Amino acid sequence: MTERRVLADATRLAERLCRDVVEALSNAVRARGRALLAVSGGSTPRPLYERLGGDAAPKSLWEHTELYWADERYVPRSSPDSNFRLVADSLLVRGGPPPDHVHPVDTDPSSPDAAARQYEATLRDHLPGEGPGLDVALLGIGPDGHTASLFPGAPALEEERRWVVGVDRSPQPPTVPRVTMTVPFLNRSRRVFFLVSGAEKAEIVHRALEDPGRGADRLPAARIVGREATVWYLDRAAARALDLRGRSGEPG
Ligand code: 6PG
Repeated sequence: MTERRVLADATRLAERLCRDVVEALSNAVRARGRALLAVSGGSTPRPLYERLGGDAAPKSLWEHTELYWADERYVPRSSPDSNFRLVADSLLVRGGPPPDHVHPVDTDPSSPDAAARQYEATLRDHLPGEGPGLDVALLGIGPDGHTASLFPGAPALEEERRWVVGVDRSPQPPTVPRVTMTVPFLNRSRRVFFLVSGAEKAEIVHRALEDPGRGADRLPAARIVGREATVWYLDRAAARALDLRGRSGEPG
């Protein structure tokens, strides 16, 4: 079931999602001895990552957490566009999993496809081949409805077997090649959490949640559903075009 949590503003949003991520990871460690978390890029999650790297989670939780990237821009790690760099500068600089539990996409291979194949091999070493995969996938949504680097109409979106694929060109800035987890792989996640903030996302959030389209025209973000939960964390501005009648928002 897809749930929505509406919080007053971006700060409350980061606070609430941080709590829920820590709880989901802790439950995974209690149940299975480890937690598998995938993160995304973009500007929205930085405050969340800063909080996660602070004292929100005990060190003992991070020691049992493996960190992956749902998508990466095919740029050097030193680039300001790198999703690894975003997480390194916001979360890892403050805390987070020990280095041997941090699994960024290697963007040195000769093509995005080669980088994707290499990353898939890493994931296959760590995760079961079928059944639930990641414990938590943290995703965002772009103005065109993309999530991770799964863009509307792109071949990557129709991939059925691979866990990770290369994307030769992004139609959205930064317009660099990408490496992305695929729909079937992300849909093996136990919990999918979307984080969305700001009025400029209101229209696409409305479409994703209330008018996602059908078949091949279905918005990429609307295709990603967790096995146990799919929760959209929205601030009021991002939720303002939604029909919230009869739903429990969260006054903040
Ligand atoms: C990326 C992403 C992408 C992002 C959305 C939202 O690396 O570009 O993972 O899917 O999550 O585009 O980005 P903003 O937070 O910047 O709006």
